[in-house]
Amino acid sequence: MLLRLVNIFGYLSVLLRAGTLVFQSLLLGGVLFIPWVARPSSEIPDNSLEKVRSSSLRLFRIAAIGLAIVQALYLYVNSAVLMASAEMGLRDIVGANFFISGSIVFTAAILAALLATIRSKFAMTWLGLLVAIILAASVMTNHAASRMDGRAPLIVLSFLHELATGFWIGGLPFLLLGLFVAKTTSTQWRLTRRFSQIALVSVAVIVFSGVAMSLSYIGSVRSLFGTAYGVMVSAKAIMLAAMLLLGGINFLLLRKYSGDAVGPRLRRLVEAEVGIGITIILTAASLTSQPPAVDLVNDTVDFAHIASRLKPHWPRLASPELAQLSSPFPGRKIDIPAVAPLPAAYTIDGAPLSRSEVADIGWSEYNHHWMGVLVLAMGLLALLARTGHAKWAEYWPLVLIGIAIFIFARGDPECWPLGPQGFWISWTKTEVFQHRMAALLCIAFAIFELRVRRRPSSGGPLALVFPLLCAAGGALLLTHSHSLTNVQEEFLAEMSHVPLGILAVLSGWARWLEIRLPPEDRAIPAWIWPVCFALIGVGLLNYREI
Ligand code: HEM
Repeated sequence: MLLRLVNIFGYLSVLLRAGTLVFQSLLLGGVLFIPWVARPSSEIPDNSLEKVRSSSLRLFRIAAIGLAIVQALYLYVNSAVLMASAEMGLRDIVGANFFISGSIVFTAAILAALLATIRSKFAMTWLGLLVAIILAASVMTNHAASRMDGRAPLIVLSFLHELATGFWIGGLPFLLLGLFVAKTTSTQWRLTRRFSQIALVSVAVIVFSGVAMSLSYIGSVRSLFGTAYGVMVSAKAIMLAAMLLLGGINFLLLRKYSGDAVGPRLRRLVEAEVGIGITIILTAASLTSQPPAVDLVNDTVDFAHIASRLKPHWPRLASPELAQLSSPFPGRKIDIPAVAPLPAAYTIDGAPLSRSEVADIGWSEYNHHWMGVLVLAMGLLALLARTGHAKWAEYWPLVLIGIAIFIFARGDPECWPLGPQGFWISWTKTEVFQHRMAALLCIAFAIFELRVRRRPSSGGPLALVFPLLCAAGGALLLTHSHSLTNVQEEFLAEMSHVPLGILAVLSGWARWLEIRLPPEDRAIPAWIWPVCFALIGVGLLNYREI
């Protein structure tokens, strides 16, 4: 168990940091939303603002409990792994920076959950203080606190960046809840107007502090494009642009519609903003786990290597032989047939790869390229269907069944139908199980999406599962780290995954909006997601590992 924990520690710490940042942002958002945005007003005579405040306090309590749970896990995992791998005793661990900060956040979160049950001005002031303590303790665990040069300004910038993130992104779920609870248009208007002021200031602070930190942590254009850290920061900037676009559409809607027509439209757009905002926070957590670009003087990949990896190549549509792979049939002696050797290949450092490594890479590239053909076909068919001139193209979800068969057949070469491991026995392996579940999900989506296409009213909430999974898949691509020991290879892997992740996130939320917005407002998102799908297909077609 402990060994497993050590093995997955890298990814687990990104997940726990992401959980901390999301719940911390919610607490920051709530602590400003409740007293400022939902402040009682003589302009709103009914008790709708009171209802908004009560539901917001409930959400605040849930976030505080969530933060306490994540911190408890964080303390346990970090301590257990350090005790096992660095042979540290409990006494050393208790004095470590992470333990002190985690314990402070845990205690403050528990106190905040308790205090949020009390309705008074006094309690609100104390809640503000507790949330400030949580933020300060959290900032002490990111890169700023461990810098040798310019530590103080970087700590201030990180503090401002996370503060503004909380006020804006963390406040959005409170706005969403408020718009849902407040049934009257005047209350919805008031909440939106007051929240927009916070959002505007927060965006300015996020951009200012983000750019200032980037100058310090990245430092040069070469590092921006040649390190995983730089690519992650660029990904955040692109998603911020998407959020600002949604904010702009919100603003236009407010001008175009009036009365009861505004509320539902606003809610749908805010839903997508919450989704993209949380994805940016997850990407930020992954960023913290990477060494800052300026520290990788000798490990920055140069433009020539990047260009050569990105240069369009004809897709690999012929697969290496099964017997050439590194372990096609583990645990079983087989007669390897004579197969023509593959051409020699080298790592980025010029080290030669073994024949089986070359074959493994060929197998993986072949899989990605055929997947690219299928996803591109799906995007193009969906676009064709969107034009309204090709009814038959509405059957694009059938391509998902092709994807399912492909995953099933090629995902695990050592298992049935290609390898010797039987159909039933191979279900017990975690990776095989995940691949098969993904294949089954594709089939389920195909059937479900076909039903939604034929009878749009048959969708209901289940129609939202497909866009949600697209967006979640994209977020996973943006947060998962590659356990490659070579920093430059890790960057090249990141460089191919990050654009696909961003496109998947955008396609998921565009499809979400297409389903959720009233029919007359669906035109733009209905074009965006098929284009994103087609681009993902193109990206996969040019996917390369060497
Ligand atoms: C909505 C937009 C954004 C959100 C929600 C956001 C959120 C965050 C959060 C929560 C962190 C702290 C990570 C941690 O402590 O683990 C962070 C760090 C950072 N962000 Fe952003 N950010 C946004 C936009 C930007 C932009 C536009 C830039 C640059 C132009 C940027 C650059 C950075 C940098 C350099 C760090 C420092 C990470 C470190 O400690 O190494 N961010 N961001």
